[in-house]
Amino acid sequence: MRVLVTAGPTREPIDPVRYLSNRSSGRMGHAIARALKRAGHSVVLVSGPTALKPPAGVQFVAVETAREMLAACRRHWPRCGGLVAAAAVADFRPARVAGRKLKRGAGEGARLELVANPDVLASLTRRKGARLAVGFALETGSGKQEALRKLADKNLDFIVLNGPEAQGADEAEVRLFDRGGGELALGPMRKDALARALVRHTIGPA
Ligand code: CTP
Repeated sequence: MRVLVTAGPTREPIDPVRYLSNRSSGRMGHAIARALKRAGHSVVLVSGPTALKPPAGVQFVAVETAREMLAACRRHWPRCGGLVAAAAVADFRPARVAGRKLKRGAGEGARLELVANPDVLASLTRRKGARLAVGFALETGSGKQEALRKLADKNLDFIVLNGPEAQGADEAEVRLFDRGGGELALGPMRKDALARALVRHTIGPA
């Protein structure tokens, strides 16, 4: 199966030198792409900026902003049978991108007006059909209720619940929920092993 994977943070420019982003390293998404490839799938990895080398044998599409990520995903989604959305998409972007560096002394830029970014995952799953969709939920509380809400609202087959401590870490501990009410705890384990387990329990082998 051809599987679309989103990974990494997005970067939302403020001016030519500054941006809004988050702590995502992209490691989980890249590990999922590698695990899918190992399981025999063909993989399109759409990733925000990371320090990682793209996995071998995977079609790699580098993007910066949420809107670029959405555009790239929309191009590839029609030819894919499944989707794993591991990206930490910035939910907001500056309403205006200044054409020149905002100056400290001028008093401008002290207030940043933000507008909502598109939900990449939800806009793809609006036209999902029988295809498989796996999302992630990053929650700071216990999170199960929120994860189940996102599973339903975003029309997903599976959702992986993790906490903020997973961001940038080598290891992670997650809970996997499915549409049928199933729940599975995985980890703590290294992200590459975790990615293989997640692929086995969600998309499965090719
Ligand atoms: N996601 C996305 N585009 C966004 C926001 C989220 O594709 N603009 C995807 C993420 O890749 C993840 C899932 O949606 O698979 C849930 O992301 P999360 O940040 O936990 O949820 P949000 O929908 O942003 O909700 P909130 O920030 O209110 O918790």
